[in-house]
Amino acid sequence: MATRATMLYALFLTLLQLLLNRHLSLAAGGKWNLLLPNVGISAMHMQLLRNDRVIMFDRTNFGPSNISLPDGKCRKNPMDPISKLDCTAHSIEYDVASNTVRPLTVQSNTWCSSGSVRPDGFLVQTGGDRDGALKARTFSPCNNDRCDWVEINNGLAKRRWYASNHILPDGRQIVIGGQAQFNYEFYPKTTSPNVIALPFLAETSDRGQENNLYPYTFLNTDGNLFIFANNRAILLDYVKNTVVKTFPAIPGGDPRSYPSTGSAVLLPLKNLEAVKIDAEVLVCGGAPKGSYILALRKNTFVRALDTCARIKINDANPQWTVENMPRARVMGDMTLLPNGDVLLINGGSSGSAAWELGREPVFVPDLYHPENPVNSKFESLNPSKTPRMYHSAAVLLRDGRVLVGGSNPHAFYNFTGVLFPTELSLEAFSPVYLEPEFANLRPNVMSPKSQSSIKYGMSLKLKFKVAGEVKSPVKVTMVFPSFTTHSFSMNQRLLVLDNVKFTRKGKSMNYEVQVRTPRSAIIAPPGYYMMFVVNQNIPSEGVWVRLQ
Ligand SMILES: *[C@@H]1O[C@H](CO)[C@@H](O)[C@H](O)[C@H]1NC(C)=O
Ligand SMILES: *[C@@H]1O[C@H](CO)[C@@H](O)[C@H](O)[C@H]1NC(C)=O
Repeated sequence: MATRATMLYALFLTLLQLLLNRHLSLAAGGKWNLLLPNVGISAMHMQLLRNDRVIMFDRTNFGPSNISLPDGKCRKNPMDPISKLDCTAHSIEYDVASNTVRPLTVQSNTWCSSGSVRPDGFLVQTGGDRDGALKARTFSPCNNDRCDWVEINNGLAKRRWYASNHILPDGRQIVIGGQAQFNYEFYPKTTSPNVIALPFLAETSDRGQENNLYPYTFLNTDGNLFIFANNRAILLDYVKNTVVKTFPAIPGGDPRSYPSTGSAVLLPLKNLEAVKIDAEVLVCGGAPKGSYILALRKNTFVRALDTCARIKINDANPQWTVENMPRARVMGDMTLLPNGDVLLINGGSSGSAAWELGREPVFVPDLYHPENPVNSKFESLNPSKTPRMYHSAAVLLRDGRVLVGGSNPHAFYNFTGVLFPTELSLEAFSPVYLEPEFANLRPNVMSPKSQSSIKYGMSLKLKFKVAGEVKSPVKVTMVFPSFTTHSFSMNQRLLVLDNVKFTRKGKSMNYEVQVRTPRSAIIAPPGYYMMFVVNQNIPSEGVWVRLQ
């Protein structure tokens, strides 16, 4: 008996140890991996496509990059401050599977532009600076390395620099604002008038300090657009051009948009069959009023904002709830993870966005658990070693990692003699759910197969395997891949599908979950989504599905 008690005690200790270890790894989890030390350009804009390749580009008129253009594709650019003839590429395609890059030949300036993926999977990018400001450009994903940018002259009606795009239920995209543009338009262009005034953008422009560029725009579940600029938001009926709701300013009144750059997400949408869906927006970080001017003129770098503000946008009388973050952050990215958590990553803790104006890089990513009680929503994760300041970006990959790249706070490619050298490396951050200890909980999706088409409002069966324990309810989530630049992920959207039925096939490790697909293109615009099965917070690898 004594031996048995001792054995049980030993077993108990081992289990306790395992639990503690798990707890410890959750307390400061996640891993950083250097994928490529040098991809040739600084990843200022990033978009994942449905073939698991990520299109990246920076700016074309600030000197040679570190990756050559294919022969015969040099660009002649009399406007370029350093190279009138440039034989280097300023856009690349990164292939996740092979971890390699390929130069692309963008011909006009894509600096500080915007974009979105079309329902057929083409990337549509709009605007930029100088010769690029009126352009639209498309990129059709391919697996044979032959596809490249196609540029469309006068694709836009107005010059768009620092605008935000959003995909619409009918597959077009809306392009909102940009420097000195207090209006919006559609791409492809509609018949006149294609340019529609939006006084809200003039009202939030802080007398020329702006603080309203790259407005945080989300398609609400009622079909209107939630548009946040500076410290407040409106709900816009873009068809009738009427403001249907005005939200209060975030308490404190400090700006959260470029150059006082914070970030924002539409939190995971759930209970999708409900008549009124509780859509919530979370805005985090930014810089106190005047930070940009103080950094620019006085070399004074004010501590960034250390709060997030959250609002239920469909409430009759919506109010912001302000929560403290573990640290101050300006120019941070907010990335929705497949299990519905929000990752805050990159940026600095003082100063503002724009050339050379950010200080004190933030190396620690913070995880925000939207469903946890107040004061226990944040969890701090393992730090990186690479500053990711102005012009850095982060996007979710289908395997659940977060791709991190960019950082170039200079008007050139400067690798020495500067505070934060131009950063050409690509890293991946692997959240805790990818750690080997959770491998037996990770679902492996057998069907639908990647690239399957699904329809609106149907019931869909997903078959998956799990080696370890499955706890019902498993979650099925869908993520629209974002166009990310300047700390904002346009079109980022995560849907938690309504479960109908869950079954286990006998005692095997085969399971089936039946869900309802979104009922309309307002809730989920058409296009390619990554679909995940989530067991006890551990997501499967995603499969690409085309919702149409
Ligand atoms: C990239 O940088 C390395 C190291 O400075 C240099 O040797 C190489 O020639 C550069 N390549 C291009 C295409 O600029
Ligand atoms: C940055 O690079 C540009 C172009 O090569 C050069 O003119 C400038 O002096 C550099 N700045 C610093 C601080 O090294």
